[in-house]
Amino acid sequence: MINMKISKRLKEISNFIDENDKIIDIGCDHALLDIYLKEKYQNISIIASDIHEGALKMARKNLEKHEMEDKIDLRLGDGLTVANPNEYNCIIISGMGYYNIVKILSDQSKLENANKIIIQSNTDVVKLRKYIIKLGYKITREKLVEDNDIIYTIIQFQKGIEKYDYRQIYFGPRLLENKDEIFNDYYYKKLLKYENLLLQLPKSNVISRLHHKRLIKIIKEQVK
Ligand SMILES: C[S@@+](CC[C@H](N)C(=O)[O-])C[C@H]1O[C@@H](n2cnc3c(N)ncnc32)[C@H](O)[C@@H]1O
Repeated sequence: MINMKISKRLKEISNFIDENDKIIDIGCDHALLDIYLKEKYQNISIIASDIHEGALKMARKNLEKHEMEDKIDLRLGDGLTVANPNEYNCIIISGMGYYNIVKILSDQSKLENANKIIIQSNTDVVKLRKYIIKLGYKITREKLVEDNDIIYTIIQFQKGIEKYDYRQIYFGPRLLENKDEIFNDYYYKKLLKYENLLLQLPKSNVISRLHHKRLIKIIKEQVK
């Protein structure tokens, strides 16, 4: 029985983790996800790191509150530089933007043993799918979660090759297989937004108009 409360978004991320994963949580901030995971799986190995001293201070306080000072390995530093590749096989990066995530994953020697990468990006999810697939990963699981009126995409990448068409890259291959209510709602709102934008775009802005028309077309094919 887990007796701590975390946000819906973090809880959904925790569902992507198995007991045997050796985790590094980059940008752990408060470390609430890591504490929750350690409560769920007592034997799980977790390195929780952050680039900001203030964040780690708060993480340390939270660890003390839950009597987990010796159970979660807190490290201060930039991205994957804080650990050796043999210390983890699962990378979690959540609540960051595209450029930061790409920067963290750009040193491929750090991905040697990273069989699983869990990403919840705040921006450019489509570009991230493309980037991480190019690193030699396939998308094995995806989930949309609504938390405080924001819809987040959580993606699990695992080592391997799988070919995707542009629709799968745009919507997510696993999300397309299971279009739930959140999916329809999310893309219906996007559709309205793009239709509105198109109305406002001047006729002279040919490239942008074409881009929006294409997006509207592919979204219309998918939403109910
Ligand atoms: C918005 S918080 C997200 C916290 C938590 N992962 C979550 O999803 O709720 C982003 C955290 O990432 C940290 N961060 C940003 N860039 C980083 C980097 N290159 N390496 C490690 N941590 C980083 C920030 O200091 C901040 O604490």
